[in-house]
Amino acid sequence: MKSDVLEELRTEVTRRRTFAIISHPDAGKTTLTEKLLLYGGAIREAGSVKARKANRHVTSDWMEIEKQRGISVTSSVLQFDYKGHRVNILDTPGHQDFSEDTYRTLTAADSAVMLIDAAKGVEAQTIKLFQVCAKRGIPIFTFINKLDRDGRNPFDLMEEIERVLGIRSVPMNWPIGMGRELCGIYDRMKRQVERFRGEVHGEIEVHQVEDYRDASIREMAGDYLYDQLCQDLELLDVAGDPFDLEKVRRGELTPVFFGSALNNFGVQTFLEHFLELAPSPTPRKSRTGEVDPLSPRFSGYIFKIQANMNPAHRDRVAFLRIVSGRFERGMTVRHVRAGREIKLSQPQQFLAQDRDIIERAYPGDIVGLFDPGIFRIGDSLAEKEDIEFDELPTFSPELFAKVTVKNAMKHKQYQKGIDQLTEEGTVQVFRSTGGFDETILGVVGQLQFEVFEYRMKHEYGVDIELQRMPYQFARWLVGDNIDFSKFRINSTVVRDKKDRPVALFESEYALRTAIEKNPDVKFLETAP
Ligand code: G4P
Repeated sequence: MKSDVLEELRTEVTRRRTFAIISHPDAGKTTLTEKLLLYGGAIREAGSVKARKANRHVTSDWMEIEKQRGISVTSSVLQFDYKGHRVNILDTPGHQDFSEDTYRTLTAADSAVMLIDAAKGVEAQTIKLFQVCAKRGIPIFTFINKLDRDGRNPFDLMEEIERVLGIRSVPMNWPIGMGRELCGIYDRMKRQVERFRGEVHGEIEVHQVEDYRDASIREMAGDYLYDQLCQDLELLDVAGDPFDLEKVRRGELTPVFFGSALNNFGVQTFLEHFLELAPSPTPRKSRTGEVDPLSPRFSGYIFKIQANMNPAHRDRVAFLRIVSGRFERGMTVRHVRAGREIKLSQPQQFLAQDRDIIERAYPGDIVGLFDPGIFRIGDSLAEKEDIEFDELPTFSPELFAKVTVKNAMKHKQYQKGIDQLTEEGTVQVFRSTGGFDETILGVVGQLQFEVFEYRMKHEYGVDIELQRMPYQFARWLVGDNIDFSKFRINSTVVRDKKDRPVALFESEYALRTAIEKNPDVKFLETAP
């Protein structure tokens, strides 16, 4: 590769940031995303993303469910430029009905923004999504939202983050008052105050100070809030964790920012700190070692497959995360699993609902590839080389249902549907052991069942019946001479698609008892 092309690659990689926002529904993810896009000029009007949320994919009628519930099942990527940076936000559905897709999308991110409602603290979905990110050790930045409402004490929130999530935190800024008394935030790194003026949205008034004891803060906030701020920050200076970029990069320390997305307060300074501290596209592991984004040859992997975004075509779109090199429209690459060359002719990039054809893309970018049925989740594509990226993790399902076909004549279509939908990662499939040959579906969110049922009917013409089973936990069993008869009370043993034994448990108690009684057996949360 010529040196100017290498230089171009370096510049493009260095300026990119690819991240996901993780949060519990209603914490304000749509609002924050929208404000970020406004800064990047990617949208012109506030309300566009909101409208999209309410009105998502009106054109894709297979996702009736989406419309009916006003939620997003599918996730895509939003891209914008800000002060020289190219920002990719991976849009993960925050609804509690989220699916494995959400988890897998997180594998394509280099960092995450954890959004927390100041009144509610760390909530259930946040915990799950955090854990997926923490397992990969990616940097996590925290934004504590809705400061304009009466929320919990900031120290309480920090303590909760540490206790529940097991990560230390370092406040980058600190609120001066809260709720009706909110007056501003003090930026500990830049030693500046951002003033809150609820009545003038979007106008940001920032002034430089000596430090938090600066007299101008007393003037602005009054004695009471000023004294409070000084006390809090003295305590933080003495007892708080110091900022340590290395720890942040290893995911051991989360920088915490306070603000209000709705009021556009603290958002811009958050974005600027984030872009400075978050990593540019990171290497990914492959069978033959780590692949560096600056490696000149193009490579990437498919982390998500989505069917029928356009109902007029029965096509699928495969989402590719670029790992190294430069991607060009029409380039020929190796489809490593299939062992052949393919031409990438219709790459698409996604912003809101538009699908733009792209010419070039770089590591960190997400590209949508037209998929006539040749891709599977986890497939690697590489230029002239047989790079195979590590398998994407499968996630332990938490909901289970027995599936039966209403019309036995449709068995062939049913089988085809099951095969394709498991390949896309819509559901995980297990077979019962014992006398009956039953098919059991496992999912992480209820919505996956609904999507499965809907697509079986509309795409494969098969009516199915799902019968919920009482199990809540799945563990892959590994060991010699496992006595499966021990797994009968409040549990059962099934086989996954590679015929590996998986025990399903009705309760945490049943799981714990089984672990105690079978010290020689390993109970794995994901497939070995
Ligand atoms: P989500 O995507 O995480 O589910 O949350 P979303 O942005 O839709 O926000 C959930 C609700 O919280 C919305 O109110 C939104 O306006 C509100 N919100 C977001 N950020 C802030 C903030 O900084 N302060 C306050 N006070 N509220 C905030 P809603 O009533 O459900 O919707 P809408 O009627 O405002 O559209």
